[in-house]
Amino acid sequence: MTNNAQWSSRLGFILASAGSAIGLGAIWKFPFWAGANGGGAFIIPYILFTFTIGLCLVMAEVSIGRRGRGSVVSAMRRVGGPWFGLLGALAVLTAYIILSYYSVVGGWCVSYLWDAIRGSVATSDPEVLKANFGALVTNGTENVAWHLAFLSLTCGTVVLGVESGIERVSKYLMPTLFVLMVAIIVRSLTLDNAWEGVKYLFHFDLDSINSKAILNAMGFTFFSLSLGAGILVTYGSYLSDKTNIPNASVWVAALAIQAALLAGLMIMPAVFAFGLEPNGGPGLVFVTVPLVFSKVPFGAFFALLFYICLLVAALTSAVSLLEVVTAFLQNEWHLSRRTAVLLNWVTLFLLGAVSALSFGPWSGFTIFGMTFFDLLDFICTNFLMPLGGMSIAVLAGWLAWPKIREQLTSVKSYSPALLTLIRIMIAVLAPVLVAVALLQGIMG
Ligand code: TRP
Repeated sequence: MTNNAQWSSRLGFILASAGSAIGLGAIWKFPFWAGANGGGAFIIPYILFTFTIGLCLVMAEVSIGRRGRGSVVSAMRRVGGPWFGLLGALAVLTAYIILSYYSVVGGWCVSYLWDAIRGSVATSDPEVLKANFGALVTNGTENVAWHLAFLSLTCGTVVLGVESGIERVSKYLMPTLFVLMVAIIVRSLTLDNAWEGVKYLFHFDLDSINSKAILNAMGFTFFSLSLGAGILVTYGSYLSDKTNIPNASVWVAALAIQAALLAGLMIMPAVFAFGLEPNGGPGLVFVTVPLVFSKVPFGAFFALLFYICLLVAALTSAVSLLEVVTAFLQNEWHLSRRTAVLLNWVTLFLLGAVSALSFGPWSGFTIFGMTFFDLLDFICTNFLMPLGGMSIAVLAGWLAWPKIREQLTSVKSYSPALLTLIRIMIAVLAPVLVAVALLQGIMG
């Protein structure tokens, strides 16, 4: 079965793909990862990876999708044969698992937004803030309930369809996100001492470059461009033949970088202005950021804007993950969109609930020393996503290059040298780096 849904415009595709890319990765993970990995030593390789291998893999995924016109399973099977259909199924599984625990963190965003609306999110006592965050994640019922709320928002968007759901939501929310982020940055940069935060983010000294920071940057590039889980294959399958894939892909990569940098600028200068720990880890946006807002004039208002940003970013990413699974159920199991989403809603609620409970009531239940949430994240980040990236690279770079090339040049022709460079990135550099990352994952 082929897929008839289509984006109404190139912009729709770009915003939906950027919506997928810009998520908790950019706003929640990037600032504290950049901090933990030596600022520029992480950011510069991240930008380089995004514009080289990352960008080329984006083009590869989108091309496979548009050529195969179907869910990631049908598209990869059509382009590469039955074995690649199987690898496509692995991508669906990856998206499904990621969404199950992504939705738990999404739930925290809903909860904090709710507090921000009531004006109770910012308190100047760090211990209270830490305790609040701890109380939220360890309270099983609350954690599960917020997860359900976030998952329902995600399902509610996807059930409306590609154009009237995903595209429409992205078209309104992504520009809103940008404006809100800029407003918060202006606030953050005009605080005394803000410049220290900017320096912290962008300072660059050669000594701090090390293989770990580079590999982390590589992993983050994958996560932040939503590679390796069939997202861009699925979104590419809804792309009009008139759209120039290289050009649209450059937009997506540029928007992703832009958002991560904006997120860093939103948070770090304010953190430094108040002499707080930039190394706040996962609690940065839930503990440190509220503390900042408690000290800033009009802080409650900016807190509200901030948590709207966080939720918007998380939602458009979760939507992309759900679309991968939904398109698969429509194409391969011949379910209607409505039934497919309903099935996802129920089963993802259950799987996500296990992750949600693994912070509190079930935190004693560990596998390889990891809670259920950490285990799923570990498996996806270290194995499933690299494997997905690898299968795309092998398919696009080696087996089906003529088809990919045809997709890339269908609207505009590019010089043979540029196309060769793109192919080398996809066929050689991407697999080598992914293999290194996989090995690192295995050896810990
Ligand atoms: N890119 C998103 C973020 O930064 C997360 C995400 C969405 C993702 N879809 C993905 C990550 C697919 C990996 C694979 O938050």
